Amino acid sequence: MSRYSAICHIIDQIRLTRDIFHLVLNAPDIARAARPGQFCMLATAHGKGLDPLLRRPLSIHDVGPSGRLEFLYRVVGRGTDLLAQKGPGDIVCVLGPLGQGFRLGTSSSSILVGGGLGTAPLLFLARGLEPRDITIILGGRDAQEIVRLDSFEKVAEKVLVTTEDGSLGIKGLVTSALERLDISPSSHIQHPPAIFACGPWPMMKAVCNWAAIRGLAVQVSLETQMACGTGICLGCATRSSGQDRYLHVCKDGPVFFATDIDWG
Ligand SMILES: Cc1cc2nc3c(=O)[nH]c(=O)nc-3n(C[C@H](O)[C@H](O)[C@H](O)COP(=O)(O)OP(=O)(O)OC[C@H]3O[C@@H](n4cnc5c(N)ncnc54)[C@H](O)[C@@H]3O)c2cc1C
Ligand code: FES
Repeated sequence: MSRYSAICHIIDQIRLTRDIFHLVLNAPDIARAARPGQFCMLATAHGKGLDPLLRRPLSIHDVGPSGRLEFLYRVVGRGTDLLAQKGPGDIVCVLGPLGQGFRLGTSSSSILVGGGLGTAPLLFLARGLEPRDITIILGGRDAQEIVRLDSFEKVAEKVLVTTEDGSLGIKGLVTSALERLDISPSSHIQHPPAIFACGPWPMMKAVCNWAAIRGLAVQVSLETQMACGTGICLGCATRSSGQDRYLHVCKDGPVFFATDIDWG
């Protein structure tokens, strides 16, 4: 699989909410090679500065014509704060695409579930899925956390929104929306939907439990702290469901089948 280390110009950087940003880079090689579910490591230091030294991992949100490479991220600390201060014309050094993305398969329908900024990889995923009977569930604490809704609505047959405070869509967690889909254990024996999830660990665990009851396979995109992003530092280990084995999220993932993970 090809990966590139590229110096990319920022085409656009839009502040969507107080702390969520949509970054668009010009990165033709990475955009061409990228597959849904893969991520990039972005250097966030300004100019020739080395602080922070380590690049930060972000999921590929979308790719577009003429080499557009898009990210959706929340400012949580120093690296993302520095990235958010950059604007059109500034440069960002990017390593990618990295990791194993989603297996797209041939299921006749798909359900994509994202919580918080776990929605980021789902747009590119939805574009890559065939056939196109796609339901996307976007969950957040409140309406402010539901971003790029119009873009998601363009790539899916159905989009359901849940917010914990009820300020948008269904009041509750993403599982409230899953229950509304009325999928019983026997209703999809012939054509089981493919389930994809990305978000906080408890959310993904709940989605996996919902799917397990119905005998459905789930692919999850995991997040851990990452230093290198390329399998060298071994800092991104997560426990696998196999005996005494660790998986490395940057190299073996970030996308895994739920049954491969020890959910604790
Ligand atoms: C494969 C992958 C894809 C990701 N995709 C996205 C994305 O598309 N959009 C997005 O907003 N974020 C994404 N993240 C998380 C993002 O990498 C971190 O938020 C970012 O590295 C934080 O850097 P910082 O310097 O701003 O914060 P730091 O100063 O490094 O940390 C600030 C706080 O955030 C916590 N933190 C840092 N990294 C993570 C993490 N990976 N998971 C949970 N908590 C963390 C730290 O413990 C600390 O409390 C992804 C992470 C991985 C591993
Ligand atoms: S982040 Fe270094 S091995 Fe995964």
